[in-house]
Amino acid sequence: MPAEIITIASLKGGVGKTTSSYALAAAAADGGLRVIAIDLDPTGGLSNALEKAKRTATIADVLHERVSIQDALMDHPLGIKAVASHRSLNEDNPTEEQLRRIVGGLSDDFDLVLLDTHPHEPSLLGPMAVADRIVIPTALDILSLRAAALTVGLAQQLEVLERIRGIIVTNVKRPMSRITESLLNGLSLSGLAFDTVLWYSPGWILATSGRGELPDQDLLAQSKMLLREVAVRPVPEEALRQFISMAQGRRPREAATR
Ligand SMILES: Nc1ncnc2c1ncn2[C@@H]1O[C@H](COP(=O)(O)OP(=O)(O)OP(=O)(O)O)[C@@H](O)[C@H]1O
Ligand SMILES: [Mg+2]
Repeated sequence: MPAEIITIASLKGGVGKTTSSYALAAAAADGGLRVIAIDLDPTGGLSNALEKAKRTATIADVLHERVSIQDALMDHPLGIKAVASHRSLNEDNPTEEQLRRIVGGLSDDFDLVLLDTHPHEPSLLGPMAVADRIVIPTALDILSLRAAALTVGLAQQLEVLERIRGIIVTNVKRPMSRITESLLNGLSLSGLAFDTVLWYSPGWILATSGRGELPDQDLLAQSKMLLREVAVRPVPEEALRQFISMAQGRRPREAATR
């Protein structure tokens, strides 16, 4: 069986893409899956988070066939393999064909490929087109939610809407304000958000800081619940369409009649 590709995508920075990638990687490795995490963000969020892994070649070398994917793999104490990013990805957007070739080169050695991405439309096209599953992290503020809805809209343009598994709510402090609580309830009731929230925790900051702290039991438990939902959850396509129309500033009924 070829490895399954999960792309973690958003058009907005700082919404928890790297934290979500890290959580899914940790959960999958803990469950015995063979995981490879590829950092496609030129600022190197996930590469920094996985800094303990010794860096050899980067994804730029692999994309341009200077080295094979096998030669760019780094070992991380989580039990995953990682491929580091490179700043040249700022101008050089990975294409669907390049990514398919790379994943194809992994043959049957891996169960899961995680793609952490750059919040920039041209660089999201390849990673979203190649994904078997797409998850969209968001913080609970209006700008982040709007960016999440625009990201869903991008998936619709690429005709991969049905591959969206849901929205990961991240970085929410407890106790929640009433506004935050009502935003979260709205997302959950519509079926868009996963039930698992990656609640604000200093543990996430430590785990992804690259200093080698591994997630504690509580973070791992959240991660495992999230991975399970990503694996089995049905996709509420109508809710996704309504969410897109929210970003376009139209009410769902208006949008539906166009
Ligand atoms: N659940 C959480 N608990 C604590 N901190 C969090 C949580 N989620 C995200 N953060 C913090 O918020 C910031 C942004 O998170 P992260 O790096 O995961 O987002 P990103 O979408 O990958 O950002 P970028 O677009 O810059 O790559 C980081 O400082 C991260 O540590
Ligand atoms: Mg990041």
